[in-house]
Order: sequence, then C-alpha cells, then structure tokens
Amino acid sequence: MTTVYLNGNFIPLEQAQVPILDRGFIFADGVYEVIPVFSGNPFRLKEHMERLRNSLDGISLQLDYDREKWQSLIDQLLALNRVTGDSSIYIQVTRGVAERNHFYQAGSTPTVFIYCKPLQETDVSRGVGAVLHEDIRWEYCHIKAVALLPNVMLKQYAREKDGSIEAILYRDGYITEGAASNVFTVTGDTVSTPPKSNRLLPGITRDLVVELISASLYQCREVPVSKAELLQADEIWITSSTLGIAPVIRLDGHPVSGGKPGPAWRAIDTIYQDFKRNQ
Ligand code: PDD
Repeated sequence: MTTVYLNGNFIPLEQAQVPILDRGFIFADGVYEVIPVFSGNPFRLKEHMERLRNSLDGISLQLDYDREKWQSLIDQLLALNRVTGDSSIYIQVTRGVAERNHFYQAGSTPTVFIYCKPLQETDVSRGVGAVLHEDIRWEYCHIKAVALLPNVMLKQYAREKDGSIEAILYRDGYITEGAASNVFTVTGDTVSTPPKSNRLLPGITRDLVVELISASLYQCREVPVSKAELLQADEIWITSSTLGIAPVIRLDGHPVSGGKPGPAWRAIDTIYQDFKRNQ
C-alpha cells in the first residue's frame, strides 16, 4: 500500500482526493518538484527545495512550509513507505480550491501533495534517441509549473515519430532544453550547455554535471548552443533527475557519435554514478 501526504495528513494513495474546483485542475495553477532518492536517501534535497521555493515565488503562491517542515514530511513519507532503495518523490503545490475565477482568490488554502514511487530508471547505457522540435512553450520555463501540456505533446511526438524518448527544443535557432531534460553537447574536450535563463528549467542534474565536468579532464562552458552546433557535435547528452545523464545516439534518425555512447559520456557518467552512490 502506498502512503501519500495530502494537506497535513498521511493517507493511502487510493483515498487521496482533491476537490474538483482545485485551481490545479481548473487552471493548472501550481508548481511541482521531482526529487530522486538513491538507496533511501533524497539526492540534492537542498537544491530541489530551493528550486521549489523559487517556483512558488515565481507564481506568487504563498506557502508557509519551511525547509525543516519539508525535510520532516519527506523523512516520514519515506519511512511510512519503507523506502530503502531507489525512488522518486513528487511534490505538487497548487493555489487551492476556489470558485472558478482567473484572479487569485484571497483566503484559499494551497493544496500540498507529496507522493513517492519506485524510480523507473530507463536503461540509458546503450544510448537513447531524440528528435528536434521548435520550442512551443511559454517564456517562464524556469518555473517548474504543472502546466505541462506542450511538454507532454512534445514527448509524445518524439515517441510517435521514431520511438525516441525526448524532444530537444530550439528557439530562435538556439537550443533551450529537452521537453523533460537539459541538453549538453561535446566537441573535442569541451562540453557545452545553454546558460540558465527564463527559457529553460535550471536542472539540478544539469548543475551537478557542470560541477563534475569542471573537476574532470573536460572543460565545461555555459554558452548558447546553436542548432547547427548541436548537429555537428561529437556527442549529445540529456540530463534529468530520473534519467541521470543519457547519451543521445540518434537525432532525427541520424546517428550521433557513431551511433553509440561516446568517450566523454563514459568518463563523466562514471564520475556521476560514483558521486550519486557516495553522497
Ligand atoms: N523533469 N527541463 C525540464 C523541462 C524538466 O521537466 C526537467 C525534469 C529537467 C531536468 O531537471 P532535473 O535535473 O532537476 O530533474 C529539465 C522532471 C524529472 C519531471 O518532470 O518528471
């Protein structure tokens, strides 16, 4: 039986219900986080909680949960679900229940939901496919908003086009990120990733990978990456909390890095795997 947290209570998943007029349902008026758990330990929790705070501030949603409260709720949830292995925690906060009206309604209490489920890590060791698509999302992609319809459509487009797992997005000729991941390219011994802006989510895995590369024999640059540079790159990687670092070996049906994971991916992924197991 899975236990979840909803608005102050730990209850069975089957009993967790939200009123139909919740603004999360009516307007997708809310934000979320996904935190990986390795061997029972939340990974980079501080960074995820900081990003959640930024997302809440980004949509002016006032919630009086501090760092200690989140930590204690997550600890209790993991204990109640007897999580000792790899898992992922999903947190969603919405602006709560109110009559349908676009204006924020004074006095509505935010809905807070926390859920954990086994981490279904895709085996990326032999590489993954991706497709290119124009970025059709809004201009506040730094906020982890629950309004994911464009992302959902883009991922589905990738799957239906040629069985790919991700759509790599571009805007004005420059790569932004994936529909649910950040993007890196490798040229020689230089790894590049687009700088943080309102056009991409500041990925927690992205930041860690930037840090790990800087301590390796490779160089890391946070610079704009054009579509042309992506197409000529020796290697392309996508990163997220649930994927880790995945080497893209096929882009729009064309092989990348000879159709197999490249040496830079192998080197950095080894460091990442080691880091994550020894946190
Ligand atoms: N998504 N960009 C987007 C649009 C994402 O949705 C995600 C992750 C990332 C990577 O961020 P991080 O490294 O912090 O996971 C980048 C999560 C996994 C999801 O929506 O399920």
